Amino acid sequence: KKPIIIDTDPGIDDAVAIAIALYSEELEVRLMTTVAGNVGLDKVTYNALRLLTFFKKDIPVALGADRPLIKAPIDASDIHGSSGMDGYDFEEPTNDLVLKENAVNAMHRVIMSSDEPITLVPIGPLTNIALLLKLYPEVKDNIAEIVIMGGSTTRGNAGVMAEFNVFADPEAAKIVFQSNLPIVMVGLDVGLKALVYPEDSAQLKDMNQTGEMLYQLFQKYRGGSMKTGLKMYDSCAIAYLLKPEMFEVTDTFVDVELSGSLTTGCTVVDLKGYLGKPNNAKVCVDINPQMFKEWLLESLKKCI
Ligand code: BDR
Ligand code: CA
Repeated sequence: KKPIIIDTDPGIDDAVAIAIALYSEELEVRLMTTVAGNVGLDKVTYNALRLLTFFKKDIPVALGADRPLIKAPIDASDIHGSSGMDGYDFEEPTNDLVLKENAVNAMHRVIMSSDEPITLVPIGPLTNIALLLKLYPEVKDNIAEIVIMGGSTTRGNAGVMAEFNVFADPEAAKIVFQSNLPIVMVGLDVGLKALVYPEDSAQLKDMNQTGEMLYQLFQKYRGGSMKTGLKMYDSCAIAYLLKPEMFEVTDTFVDVELSGSLTTGCTVVDLKGYLGKPNNAKVCVDINPQMFKEWLLESLKKCI
């Protein structure tokens, strides 16, 4: 099994990604770390615990950054609801899984003590990962890859050009892209095509407990406007790990705009090599939407 750490801000699409990762035969989730993003740190941590209690999985949880490195915090409660995971009446979780260590120290410990390189899967703003790489650069020797849900080669979803996770903490994203580690950017180019429609959601309803829970969350995701498809952004990062053949991937140079007058927080993806810089990331530029959907539904069947 591939050992991974999920760094997350649940988040309705985070919940789907976490469900699939927890029940995959090929992944071993060693740690979940939380970061302020879709909603504040207390709420996303509470949501992570609600999910783990629902799934009855004893994965340790460590709290990370409650705000971006420099920018003022933003959230996405308009998309995920004020709790960050509106729509399902979860059982009250216990705090037993919460570590005393913060996310950065917990990641450091888990990475350094692993006999196999760890894959990091950040599906929220990159604050924790940036802090980890700066505070403990020695972890780089035991990180296999960082598979990021974030960024875009085209339009944005938090601004004209900027994707939410990068826009929320652009300085952190820049640090991660400049880390010289193997980076995979799974951004909006694929996330915007990874869609669940009402008829797919209806299939979930009677699939299993997880399907029913996600069905309920989907009624509230983006205010319930399901007709044009709900975007399963974060599941794309898990899909890349489990079924990379559904993606078209290009090696290229990626940087993050920090001071554009209109474009702050957007990823600058140099697909044509104008900047003449060495490649620092694999970018998922396209996805087979049908393959994704079949994979998503099949994967969720393995859950409780
Ligand atoms: C990303 O932003 C968040 O709202 C989602 O959970 C996802 O991680 C998509 O831009
Ligand atoms: Ca997320």
